[in-house]
Amino acid sequence: MNAYNVAIVGATGMVGQEFIKVLEQRNFPMASIRLYASDRSAGRKLYVGHEEIVVKETALDSFQHIDIALFSAGSEISKHFAPIAAKSGALVVDNSAAWRMDPKVPLVVPEINPEDIKWHEGIIANPNCSTIQMVVALYPLHMVNPIKRVVVSTYQAVSGTGSAAMEELTTQAKLVLEGQNVVPHVYPHQIAFNLLPEIDVFLDNGYTKEEWKMVDETRKIMHAEDIEISATCVRVPVFVGHSEALNVEFTNPMTPDDARRILAQAPGIKVLDDPNVSLYPVPWQAAGTDDVYIGRIRADASYSRGLVLWVVADNIRKGAALNAIQIAEEAIKRNWVKLKS
Ligand SMILES: NC(=O)c1ccc[n+]([C@@H]2O[C@H](COP(=O)([O-])OP(=O)(O)OC[C@H]3O[C@@H](n4cnc5c(N)ncnc54)[C@H](OP(=O)(O)O)[C@@H]3O)[C@@H](O)[C@H]2O)c1
Repeated sequence: MNAYNVAIVGATGMVGQEFIKVLEQRNFPMASIRLYASDRSAGRKLYVGHEEIVVKETALDSFQHIDIALFSAGSEISKHFAPIAAKSGALVVDNSAAWRMDPKVPLVVPEINPEDIKWHEGIIANPNCSTIQMVVALYPLHMVNPIKRVVVSTYQAVSGTGSAAMEELTTQAKLVLEGQNVVPHVYPHQIAFNLLPEIDVFLDNGYTKEEWKMVDETRKIMHAEDIEISATCVRVPVFVGHSEALNVEFTNPMTPDDARRILAQAPGIKVLDDPNVSLYPVPWQAAGTDDVYIGRIRADASYSRGLVLWVVADNIRKGAALNAIQIAEEAIKRNWVKLKS
């Protein structure tokens, strides 16, 4: 089996740290690993397995010997460095929003559209965390009974904003419990003991960019330009694990039992659905695990061809690092990664 020279850009961040964990846990075929971040972290030492690796500042020559580059350092860094890495012959899997809607860049969830990896020109985009878990749940149902419309409300963990947001929730929660005043830094309002219906910037149409990503990205991944989607994305004071309530309208009627059966057989999904014993997915249990969990499957009382689902996943794993590494694994499996040496 081939072994690959891997680079992580943004290695010191929330997603970067998870990249390291997932690569180890999945025994990814690595010949070497290089860790990159900004000049702030240059010189920091991180462990990959038992090996201590010195973090370097991301630079023009960082990708010369790299076969696979995993990016999670934000859109600006990806816009600048991903083409440089791709030009040097590396396969880039990018976690930022920089390339997702570029028609020359595949946007991939391996359970759904692995074939799209084939037409990459050096960069493959990893979808937004909220989109990934939603499409993993929708696609198997859509294959049986085409979906016409989805109304989704999300309950998104602060880890989706990165490590600074995790600290902000911890600090604010302590201050509030001590009866002290809170001054928000990462979010526009206090996040501890609160909910914020604002994720990413507002667009002219009244939606936020996060909400609109769920529309555009779902259509691109599922090759389903006609699906109508309306999203409301809400940040909640949960550390890890995004939750989503989905109202799904199908072409034909579908019973909850049929949906349960289809979903239980689909890749990457675990159905947890027994109201009698309060069995349904919760973010606390999903955190640190790989699957997309689905429960509360029921007929939509307001629409005869509709179902309601509750979908939970770890936003840092399936929503980011794991999905990106699954993309790289799929590309390797299908011989779509060039080895430099
Ligand atoms: N968290 C999620 O659930 C999630 C999900 C999907 C996608 N993403 C995307 O993944 C990216 C990172 O998210 P995160 O949550 O890991 O953020 P984070 O915890 O804030 O980490 C940001 C990382 O980017 C690095 N970085 C910042 N400026 C840099 C520069 N000028 N040059 C090189 N590296 C730089 C940081 O390095 P320093 O330590 O040197 O500052 C750090 O390693 C974002 O694009 C985000 O949208 C995140």
